[in-house]
Amino acid sequence: MPELCGIELATPVINASGTYDAIAARQAFGDALLEDFPFAAFVSKTITPEPRAGNPPRRIWETPAGMINSIGLPNKGLEGFLAEDLPRLAELPVPLIVSVMATTREDFARCIERVARRREVAAIELNISCPNVHSGLIVGENPSETEALLDALRPLTEKPLIVKLTPNTADPASVAAGAERGGADAVSLINTLKGTAIDPVTGAPALGNGYGGLSGPAVRPVALEQLRSVRARVELPIVGMGGISSGADAAEFLALGAAVVAVGTESFRDPRAGSRIATELESSLLSERSAEPVLDLD
Ligand code: FUM
Repeated sequence: MPELCGIELATPVINASGTYDAIAARQAFGDALLEDFPFAAFVSKTITPEPRAGNPPRRIWETPAGMINSIGLPNKGLEGFLAEDLPRLAELPVPLIVSVMATTREDFARCIERVARRREVAAIELNISCPNVHSGLIVGENPSETEALLDALRPLTEKPLIVKLTPNTADPASVAAGAERGGADAVSLINTLKGTAIDPVTGAPALGNGYGGLSGPAVRPVALEQLRSVRARVELPIVGMGGISSGADAAEFLALGAAVVAVGTESFRDPRAGSRIATELESSLLSERSAEPVLDLD
């Protein structure tokens, strides 16, 4: 059975933070969603210590083979999340991973202490890689800052800490190594690649914030290469993501050493993508296994 940091998963396919609104989906589909939930674990949209309104519109722009988002982490803040969203997310039939972002170590620590105390939470993802908020990348670009953050947070909980890495740095493997030295339990990669777009009608920046983060199939080769370099550098389990839209795509990430994969942008197009990709992945792994004896004969 697949697992991540000791958390057993029914399949190796989870969601990428912020790409699937499970609360809205439950409102739309009712308990049918719980009977056939598309992911083996659910990663929440990133929360911050205080509520955030997010960036001005437009927030999403489609690109060839992908999209740029400039969402800006809108959320209810730590207390709003704990009071309103966490109880609803805890009804999902899969382990819950809460994604957290803050701009100081003290604020990160406050979030970790409050979130980790809740038994509904299986693990915490530290988002040190959001390109859309001021100072979102200051820690995530820097191996020693990442290590120092983990040094400060590690003693606060025994729950698994997963560090979400940015691709917007020259050497993500060094940052992963900093996370490992600081005591992280896993890393996840990649977050989005910084990008921008011009509205062809107005000639002005297409996104309200002027720029955003590129995701979708266009980034998959970048994600695979960063996964390869991080895998070569650290022993930690890796959640691989970046443009996965089929079981064959997911199999590439697993072949390069990801422990599990996360589906993000594809869920905007197909909300059932997680289940479909898990099914496709299972048949692609089965066909690989049935091919083995033939290869042995050679
Ligand atoms: O802007 C956003 O809400 C995206 C967050 C992220 O990429 O981590």
